[in-house]
Amino acid sequence: MEIKYKEVSRWIQSRRCSSTVPEKHTQSNAMLRHLTSKIKATGPISVSEYMREVLTNPVLGYYVKNDMLGADGDFITSPEISQIFGELLGIWCVSEWMAAGKPKELQLVEFGPGRGSLASDILRVFSQLRGALVGTTPSVHLIEVSPRLSEVQAHSLTGSQNQLSGREEEPAYRWGTTTTGLPIAWYRRLEDVPKGFSIYLAHEFFDALPIHKFQKTKQGWREMMVDIDPEDPDRLRFVLVPAPTLASSTLIQRDESREHVEVCPEAGVVVQRLSGRIAEDGGAALIADYGHDGTGTDTFRGFRGHKPHDVLTAPGSADLTADVDFSYLRRMAGDQVACLGPITQRQFLQNMGIDVRLQVLLRNTLDTSTRGQLVRGFDMLTNPEKMGERFKFFAMLAHGRLAPPSPAETGKKRAPAPLPVAGFSELKL
Ligand SMILES: C[S@@+](CC[C@H](N)C(=O)[O-])C[C@H]1O[C@@H](n2cnc3c(N)ncnc32)[C@H](O)[C@@H]1O
Repeated sequence: MEIKYKEVSRWIQSRRCSSTVPEKHTQSNAMLRHLTSKIKATGPISVSEYMREVLTNPVLGYYVKNDMLGADGDFITSPEISQIFGELLGIWCVSEWMAAGKPKELQLVEFGPGRGSLASDILRVFSQLRGALVGTTPSVHLIEVSPRLSEVQAHSLTGSQNQLSGREEEPAYRWGTTTTGLPIAWYRRLEDVPKGFSIYLAHEFFDALPIHKFQKTKQGWREMMVDIDPEDPDRLRFVLVPAPTLASSTLIQRDESREHVEVCPEAGVVVQRLSGRIAEDGGAALIADYGHDGTGTDTFRGFRGHKPHDVLTAPGSADLTADVDFSYLRRMAGDQVACLGPITQRQFLQNMGIDVRLQVLLRNTLDTSTRGQLVRGFDMLTNPEKMGERFKFFAMLAHGRLAPPSPAETGKKRAPAPLPVAGFSELKL
């Protein structure tokens, strides 16, 4: 998230600015106490356990307690920067639904929706394209671990038309009706979302899932753990475990050539479940995140107040993140689905027609401050020096989506080519 740092600092200066630090301090002390007592009881913990505790501990977790997004928070994301981002993803959803033969059902499933900005922009597109969506009533399904953020999402997407379930055994913990009139529900995990044709979106979700870290040594691969600093009981430090762990023996590829590797098995499990669901019920998944295609090494980092933050200092007061390894996601998806990408955000958005959309919005706006924001947002999303190159787009599709329909289906001698997948090839207007 380094690019976010400088550029976003400038970006937010033109917007609101305040700080939530004092409350975070208390939280981080409590989190540090929680982690040190855990380590005292069981010994050093894996980076994965550290990250999971810090981010999603049900009482003290960073995501569970905070609204960390936007100018007042620790980082800002593409849907928060420009409405165009969500609008183009909305068009992607409709385009994939149409390419699948306009099934009656259309579930929009979003992982980690943050403040709900992406879903809100997509729902506006669904409303505008109501004519094209005739024959289906879309439903919205949000997978969110944070009660605090689910409240923010519910407010933004439904106003007050939502309620908590109150019953543990219900798969959805909150449900309601969006301001555009669609059914909406919140879940803690993908397994709770009803099966059916779905378009899955995950924007900056996989980079928040816990990673294991490994270092190649003369003795073989060794796992990095988090321990208490023997010089200072209030400080944490990284240590290398002298013997192989279960994770170091099972998660490293035989032909691995890097010296340092990060693996996120939780991401692998989610992707395996996704590919199973897409193969069974149809649909598509679009994953957008910081990432690499199997070349990244030491990418674990922290962000607080839009600045880099040491990952072991004041745990719980800063966001923790690691680049997504798309080659690992592709491997975990297996052969149940077809995978496209990763391609850069710049390429994806340009293929989706971001330049044309910007021109349309500029033509319709005389207000100089709004015009300035639109142009700055566009630059931030697409400039290779900012978010344009480091962010990647990756899609998982049902195999049938890329296969030409059979002559029996079309009644023609020569089957037409399958429709191109928007974003992954140039949009012909
Ligand atoms: C970095 S934020 C991204 C927010 C949003 N997608 C955006 O781009 O603005 C990560 C989101 O994922 C949620 N999250 C993190 N870990 C999760 C988990 N294990 N299960 C479900 N949601 C999770 C967070 O609460 C938050 O909404």
